[in-house]
Amino acid sequence: MRGHRATDRLLRLGAIAVACGPALALAGRYAIEGLGADPIKDWTHTTGRWALRFLLISLAVTPIRRFAGLRGIAPLRRTFGLAAFAYALAHLLIWSVLDLGLEPAALVEDVTERPYVMAGMAAFAILATLAATSTRAAMKRLGARWVSLHRAVYAAALLALLHYFWQIKADLLPAWIHAAILTLLFAARLLWRFRRPASGTA
Ligand code: HEM
Repeated sequence: MRGHRATDRLLRLGAIAVACGPALALAGRYAIEGLGADPIKDWTHTTGRWALRFLLISLAVTPIRRFAGLRGIAPLRRTFGLAAFAYALAHLLIWSVLDLGLEPAALVEDVTERPYVMAGMAAFAILATLAATSTRAAMKRLGARWVSLHRAVYAAALLALLHYFWQIKADLLPAWIHAAILTLLFAARLLWRFRRPASGTA
């Protein structure tokens, strides 16, 4: 029992270290190379990309747990989901505070004139709701509704992908790779349902 608890803790600490990696790498790059030509753009893109990646990693935890029988990794879904939310929050703050200087007119103009920003906002709203209800207490309070609510994570991933595709100016390949991964994860979910018609679990 004690051994299990220590493994769980180690696993979670490892996941937190992985989640901090991209932020530390970005900070390290600036410490060594200094600010480049357009650091705000670089920060926006790096945080956006990692928000999406951690969202997909979080969605991959359940299929890996089910198909590989790794029951112990279940808590990592929450850790990586919260990492996705943290990078998305940093992404939003860099855009709103550093890029647009919290200028209300500029913010309204960007949201209303760029549909991809609206899609990003919708994805963020879902991630924020899921992060706020990710505690054990919220799980207890919401009961069966918690599972339905947290299925919205797929909508958040779809909206984030749409946001990604919509603002690309040149190379679509990275966005297609993310889309293919999301499709595979969704297919794995359907396959599990098909194999286990009576379970009805998320
Ligand atoms: C909170 C609302 C959001 C706003 C206002 C926002 C805004 C932006 C902006 C301004 C860009 C750069 C576009 C450009 O340079 O032309 C961007 C790129 C991006 N955003 Fe967001 N975003 C939001 C939410 C999200 C969320 C929730 C995710 C993922 C979960 C995300 C993922 C991305 C990705 C992957 C890119 C492209 C990065 C690249 O090209 O390398 N964004 N976003």
